[in-house]
Amino acid sequence: MGAFLLTSALGIGALQAQEVTDKGAYLTAAGGCYGCHTDIKNKGVPFAGGRPLETPFGVFYTPNITPDPETGIGSWTDEEFLAALKDGVSPSGHYYFPAFPYTSYTKMTDEDALAIKSYLMSLAPVAQENRAHDVSAPFSWRWLQWGWRLLFFKDGPYVPPVTASDPVARGGYLVEALTHCGECHTPRNFLGGTDSSLYLAGAAAGGEGEKVPNITPDDATGIGDWSEADLVSFMKDGMMPDFDNVQGSMEEVIDHSLSKLTEDDLAAIAAYLKSIPPINNKIQ
Ligand code: HEC
Ligand code: HEC
Repeated sequence: MGAFLLTSALGIGALQAQEVTDKGAYLTAAGGCYGCHTDIKNKGVPFAGGRPLETPFGVFYTPNITPDPETGIGSWTDEEFLAALKDGVSPSGHYYFPAFPYTSYTKMTDEDALAIKSYLMSLAPVAQENRAHDVSAPFSWRWLQWGWRLLFFKDGPYVPPVTASDPVARGGYLVEALTHCGECHTPRNFLGGTDSSLYLAGAAAGGEGEKVPNITPDDATGIGDWSEADLVSFMKDGMMPDFDNVQGSMEEVIDHSLSKLTEDDLAAIAAYLKSIPPINNKIQ
């Protein structure tokens, strides 16, 4: 009897751990971690890093986030993982560059962030050294991030507007804390801070220097004439209402992240996008 109780208790524990890991796999897809942390072009191992990210400040190479204790994050504690993902601070206390969108992930709940950690820790460890960034001074000076953070980093959880319906609140959380649409669709100033007065209103040279469209519900310059169903089908397979196909970094976002989300979550994102204030901003 005692042995029976013990094994069934262990069974439940293992089941719960598996549920957390499965949830983490889903949230990792939503967060788009794979696309940045995998050198897809050179057939790199998933999550082992090395993908170049071209920015106006130079080229950043993403680190290895597999559980290898030497070259990856295998030895990290939960606290260290939360500090990195939600506060942009490394285990040795240095500041990360905002090419790592911790500025969005700060809005994630601890529970969701730790589910992501549990998923990453379930992967096979890969020994692959991180590659140094190719960024010139002064932008390469990590300590300068101290000032950048004062100007542009606001930590804290996602708080939906009081009037938001459940789907709009869920969509807002997905957009702001996980799928980080604003990292590309909101324009940046010359120091790389996002301009909140033009939230999701498009950028002439966002993402990796591409033209990023206005996705506020403005009729003339945004997605005012897209229905929620149009948005959902676009996020599933990249097909636009005019039957054009999506290109560039948005295609990667759809392939590796949005197309993995449930119909309910895509509908929530669409409802949220239709609920935000329209901004008239023509991207030339
Ligand atoms: C837009 C690209 C991008 C996305 C998306 C992204 N990262 Fe990163 N990540 C980076 C870059 C670049 C760095 C290195 C920053 C630096 O050196 O200051 C980094 C650093 C990290 C680190 C620190 C690793 C170390 O060795 O210090 C962790 C942990 C991490 N990312 C986890 C994640 C997780 C989990 C996700 C998904 C929720 C994610 N990242 C999504 C670009 C990205
Ligand atoms: C890595 C940068 C990046 C991220 C992150 C990103 N986008 Fe995009 N998005 C783009 C680019 C670039 C285009 C233009 C694609 C093209 O020209 O085919 C685009 C196009 C679009 C379009 C088509 C709009 C139009 O008028 O043609 C929609 C809708 C869209 N994105 C929604 C989203 C949503 C919703 C999110 C977050 C869930 C998101 N994007 C995240 C870069 C990004």
